[in-house]
Amino acid sequence: MAALKFEDQKLPALDDYARLAEQFIPGRQAIFVIVESAFLELLPQTPSRILVAGAGGGEEILRLGFNNPNWSFVGVDTYEPMVELARKRLGETPVGARSQVHATTIDKLDDKDFDAATCILTAHFVPDDGAKLAFFKAIHTRLKPGAPLAIVDGVGVAGEDRTELLRRIWKRHSIRNGVAAEVAESNAENFKKVAVVSEQREEALLAEAGFSRVTPFFRGLAIKGWLAFA
Ligand SMILES: C[S@@+](CC[C@H](N)C(=O)[O-])C[C@H]1O[C@@H](n2cnc3c(N)ncnc32)[C@H](O)[C@@H]1O
Repeated sequence: MAALKFEDQKLPALDDYARLAEQFIPGRQAIFVIVESAFLELLPQTPSRILVAGAGGGEEILRLGFNNPNWSFVGVDTYEPMVELARKRLGETPVGARSQVHATTIDKLDDKDFDAATCILTAHFVPDDGAKLAFFKAIHTRLKPGAPLAIVDGVGVAGEDRTELLRRIWKRHSIRNGVAAEVAESNAENFKKVAVVSEQREEALLAEAGFSRVTPFFRGLAIKGWLAFA
Protein backbone atom coordinates (compact mmCIF):
# COMPACT_ATOMS: atom_id res chain seq x y z
CA MET A 1 0.00 0.00 0.00
CA ALA A 2 1.36 3.45 -0.94
CA ALA A 3 2.22 5.67 2.04
CA LEU A 4 -0.25 8.44 2.80
CA LYS A 5 0.93 11.87 1.64
CA PHE A 6 0.40 14.92 3.82
CA GLU A 7 -2.12 16.39 1.35
CA ASP A 8 -4.09 13.12 1.15
CA GLN A 9 -5.39 13.74 4.66
CA LYS A 10 -8.70 15.50 5.21
CA LEU A 11 -7.03 18.78 6.08
CA PRO A 12 -8.71 21.55 8.07
CA ALA A 13 -9.19 24.92 6.43
CA LEU A 14 -5.55 25.85 6.12
CA ASP A 15 -5.97 29.02 8.17
CA ASP A 16 -6.96 26.72 11.06
CA TYR A 17 -3.96 24.48 10.50
CA ALA A 18 -1.73 26.06 13.16
CA ARG A 19 -4.41 25.82 15.86
CA LEU A 20 -5.30 22.23 15.01
CA ALA A 21 -1.66 21.16 14.91
CA GLU A 22 -1.32 22.65 18.38
CA GLN A 23 -4.23 20.49 19.60
CA PHE A 24 -3.09 17.34 17.80
CA ILE A 25 0.62 17.15 18.42
CA PRO A 26 1.60 16.11 21.93
CA GLY A 27 4.04 18.71 23.25
CA ARG A 28 3.82 20.90 20.14
CA GLN A 29 4.83 24.04 22.10
CA ALA A 30 7.61 22.17 23.89
CA ILE A 31 9.06 20.91 20.61
CA PHE A 32 9.70 24.43 19.35
CA VAL A 33 11.12 25.66 22.67
CA ILE A 34 13.46 22.64 22.81
CA VAL A 35 14.62 23.12 19.20
CA GLU A 36 15.19 26.85 19.82
CA SER A 37 17.14 26.09 23.02
CA ALA A 38 19.25 23.50 21.19
CA PHE A 39 20.17 25.96 18.45
CA LEU A 40 20.86 28.72 21.00
CA GLU A 41 23.30 26.31 22.64
CA LEU A 42 24.88 25.06 19.41
CA LEU A 43 24.99 28.03 17.03
CA PRO A 44 27.40 30.95 17.36
CA GLN A 45 25.97 34.38 18.19
CA THR A 46 26.57 35.48 14.61
CA PRO A 47 24.19 35.31 11.63
CA SER A 48 23.16 31.68 11.03
CA ARG A 49 21.26 30.18 8.10
CA ILE A 50 18.71 27.48 8.91
CA LEU A 51 17.27 25.02 6.40
CA VAL A 52 13.66 24.03 7.14
CA ALA A 53 12.67 20.77 5.43
CA GLY A 54 8.87 20.62 5.27
CA ALA A 55 8.25 24.26 6.14
CA GLY A 56 4.50 24.01 5.51
CA GLY A 57 2.52 26.62 7.39
CA GLY A 58 5.69 28.40 8.50
CA GLU A 59 5.29 27.46 12.15
CA GLU A 60 8.88 26.64 13.08
CA ILE A 61 10.25 29.56 11.08
CA LEU A 62 7.94 31.90 13.00
CA ARG A 63 8.69 30.38 16.38
CA LEU A 64 12.46 30.07 15.91
CA GLY A 65 12.81 33.40 14.18
CA PHE A 66 10.75 35.57 16.48
CA ASN A 67 13.33 36.16 19.21
CA ASN A 68 16.44 35.40 17.17
CA PRO A 69 17.14 38.18 14.67
CA ASN A 70 20.50 36.58 13.78
CA TRP A 71 18.75 33.56 12.28
CA SER A 72 17.54 33.47 8.68
CA PHE A 73 15.59 30.65 7.07
CA VAL A 74 15.24 28.81 3.78
CA GLY A 75 12.22 26.51 3.81
CA VAL A 76 11.16 23.91 1.28
CA ASP A 77 7.82 22.16 1.03
CA THR A 78 6.25 20.08 -1.72
CA TYR A 79 2.65 21.20 -1.16
CA GLU A 80 1.92 24.59 -2.71
CA PRO A 81 -1.04 25.58 -0.44
CA MET A 82 1.16 25.07 2.64
CA VAL A 83 3.92 27.13 1.04
CA GLU A 84 1.41 29.91 0.37
CA LEU A 85 0.19 29.72 3.97
CA ALA A 86 3.79 29.95 5.23
CA ARG A 87 4.53 32.97 3.02
CA LYS A 88 1.31 34.70 4.10
CA ARG A 89 1.92 34.14 7.83
CA LEU A 90 5.59 35.04 7.64
CA GLY A 91 4.85 38.14 5.57
CA GLU A 92 2.75 39.49 8.44
CA THR A 93 5.75 39.42 10.82
CA PRO A 94 9.32 40.79 10.90
CA VAL A 95 10.56 37.19 10.46
CA GLY A 96 9.30 37.34 6.85
CA ALA A 97 12.21 39.58 5.81
CA ARG A 98 14.64 36.84 6.94
CA SER A 99 12.77 33.94 5.33
CA GLN A 100 12.27 32.30 1.96
CA VAL A 101 9.95 29.35 1.38
CA HIS A 102 10.20 27.41 -1.88
CA ALA A 103 7.68 24.97 -3.33
CA THR A 104 10.13 22.24 -4.24
CA THR A 105 11.75 19.03 -3.11
CA ILE A 106 14.92 19.42 -1.13
CA ASP A 107 17.11 17.70 -3.71
CA LYS A 108 16.27 20.53 -6.15
CA LEU A 109 17.42 23.25 -3.73
CA ASP A 110 20.64 24.91 -4.97
CA ASP A 111 21.40 26.52 -1.59
CA LYS A 112 23.87 24.76 0.69
CA ASP A 113 26.31 25.36 3.60
CA PHE A 114 23.51 25.78 6.13
CA ASP A 115 24.43 26.19 9.81
CA ALA A 116 21.49 24.07 11.01
CA ALA A 117 18.34 22.34 9.77
CA THR A 118 14.93 21.39 11.08
CA CYS A 119 12.65 18.62 9.85
CA ILE A 120 9.57 18.61 12.02
CA LEU A 121 6.76 16.10 11.41
CA THR A 122 7.74 15.82 7.75
CA ALA A 123 10.06 12.84 7.16
CA HIS A 124 7.31 10.47 8.33
CA PHE A 125 5.49 11.32 5.09
CA VAL A 126 8.45 10.13 3.00
CA PRO A 127 8.24 6.41 2.16
CA ASP A 128 10.94 4.08 3.45
CA ASP A 129 11.62 2.64 0.00
CA GLY A 130 14.86 4.51 -0.57
CA ALA A 131 13.12 7.91 -0.64
CA LYS A 132 13.47 8.53 3.12
CA LEU A 133 17.22 7.78 2.99
CA ALA A 134 17.63 10.03 -0.08
CA PHE A 135 15.67 12.77 1.75
CA PHE A 136 18.00 12.56 4.78
CA LYS A 137 21.06 12.57 2.50
CA ALA A 138 19.72 15.66 0.69
CA ILE A 139 19.49 17.47 4.04
CA HIS A 140 22.93 16.22 5.08
CA THR A 141 24.70 17.43 1.94
CA ARG A 142 23.26 20.93 2.40
CA LEU A 143 24.64 21.34 5.93
CA LYS A 144 28.11 22.50 6.96
CA PRO A 145 30.17 19.69 8.51
CA GLY A 146 29.10 19.21 12.14
CA ALA A 147 25.94 21.34 11.78
CA PRO A 148 22.90 20.17 13.78
CA LEU A 149 19.65 18.77 12.41
CA ALA A 150 16.61 18.86 14.70
CA ILE A 151 14.22 16.17 13.53
CA VAL A 152 10.84 15.21 14.99
CA ASP A 153 8.68 12.38 13.65
CA GLY A 154 6.00 9.90 14.49
CA VAL A 155 7.63 6.58 15.42
CA GLY A 156 6.57 2.99 15.96
CA VAL A 157 5.67 -0.21 14.19
CA ALA A 158 1.94 -0.44 13.46
CA GLY A 159 0.39 -3.45 15.20
CA GLU A 160 2.98 -3.63 18.01
CA ASP A 161 1.36 -3.43 21.45
CA ARG A 162 3.29 -0.45 22.72
CA THR A 163 2.85 1.52 19.47
CA GLU A 164 -0.90 0.90 19.44
CA LEU A 165 -1.23 1.83 23.13
CA LEU A 166 0.59 5.13 22.56
CA ARG A 167 -1.55 5.88 19.52
CA ARG A 168 -4.78 5.19 21.47
CA ILE A 169 -3.60 7.53 24.23
CA TRP A 170 -2.70 10.06 21.52
CA LYS A 171 -6.28 9.96 20.22
CA ARG A 172 -7.63 10.63 23.71
CA HIS A 173 -5.02 13.36 24.18
CA SER A 174 -6.24 15.21 21.07
CA ILE A 175 -9.90 14.90 22.17
CA ARG A 176 -8.87 16.12 25.62
CA ASN A 177 -7.28 19.10 23.82
CA GLY A 178 -10.53 20.02 22.08
CA VAL A 179 -10.42 18.02 18.83
CA ALA A 180 -13.83 16.57 17.80
CA ALA A 181 -13.99 12.79 18.38
CA GLU A 182 -14.63 11.99 14.71
CA VAL A 183 -11.71 14.16 13.60
CA ALA A 184 -9.44 12.48 16.17
CA GLU A 185 -10.62 9.10 14.90
CA SER A 186 -9.92 9.92 11.25
CA ASN A 187 -6.52 11.34 12.20
CA ALA A 188 -5.69 8.09 14.03
CA GLU A 189 -6.78 6.06 10.99
CA ASN A 190 -4.68 8.28 8.68
CA PHE A 191 -1.65 7.89 10.88
CA LYS A 192 -1.73 4.13 10.32
CA LYS A 193 -1.03 4.81 6.63
CA VAL A 194 1.80 7.32 7.09
CA ALA A 195 5.36 6.10 6.38
CA VAL A 196 6.27 6.02 10.09
CA VAL A 197 9.20 3.75 11.00
CA SER A 198 10.56 2.43 14.30
CA GLU A 199 12.92 4.60 16.34
CA GLN A 200 15.75 2.18 15.56
CA ARG A 201 15.07 2.34 11.81
CA GLU A 202 14.95 6.16 11.84
CA GLU A 203 18.25 6.32 13.75
CA ALA A 204 19.84 3.81 11.34
CA LEU A 205 18.68 5.81 8.30
CA LEU A 206 20.04 9.06 9.79
CA ALA A 207 23.39 7.35 10.41
CA GLU A 208 23.43 5.89 6.89
CA ALA A 209 22.76 9.37 5.50
CA GLY A 210 25.94 10.55 7.24
CA PHE A 211 24.62 11.99 10.51
CA SER A 212 26.42 11.21 13.77
CA ARG A 213 25.77 11.69 17.51
CA VAL A 214 22.07 10.96 16.98
CA THR A 215 20.71 12.23 20.30
CA PRO A 216 17.07 11.86 21.43
CA PHE A 217 15.79 15.17 22.81
CA PHE A 218 12.01 14.87 22.82
CA ARG A 219 9.32 12.26 23.34
CA GLY A 220 5.57 12.85 23.40
CA LEU A 221 3.54 9.62 23.08
CA ALA A 222 4.25 8.29 19.55
CA ILE A 223 6.24 11.36 18.49
CA LYS A 224 10.01 11.41 18.96
CA GLY A 225 12.67 14.04 18.34
CA TRP A 226 16.42 13.87 17.89
CA LEU A 227 19.39 16.09 17.32
CA ALA A 228 21.82 14.70 14.76
CA PHE A 229 25.04 16.21 13.44
CA ALA A 230 26.24 16.41 9.83
C1 LIG B 1 2.69 18.02 9.29
S1 LIG B 1 3.32 19.25 8.21
C2 LIG B 1 4.55 19.98 9.26
C3 LIG B 1 4.94 21.36 8.83
C4 LIG B 1 5.86 22.10 9.78
N1 LIG B 1 7.18 21.47 9.85
C5 LIG B 1 5.25 22.19 11.16
O1 LIG B 1 5.68 21.46 12.06
O2 LIG B 1 4.30 22.98 11.31
C6 LIG B 1 4.27 18.30 7.07
C7 LIG B 1 4.71 19.10 5.85
O3 LIG B 1 5.67 18.31 5.13
C8 LIG B 1 5.47 18.55 3.75
N2 LIG B 1 6.13 17.48 3.01
C9 LIG B 1 5.76 16.20 2.88
N3 LIG B 1 6.67 15.51 2.16
C10 LIG B 1 7.66 16.39 1.84
C11 LIG B 1 8.90 16.29 1.13
N4 LIG B 1 9.29 15.15 0.57
N5 LIG B 1 9.66 17.40 1.01
C12 LIG B 1 9.27 18.57 1.57
N6 LIG B 1 8.12 18.73 2.25
C13 LIG B 1 7.32 17.65 2.39
C14 LIG B 1 3.96 18.62 3.61
O4 LIG B 1 3.57 19.25 2.42
C15 LIG B 1 3.59 19.40 4.88
O5 LIG B 1 3.52 20.78 4.64
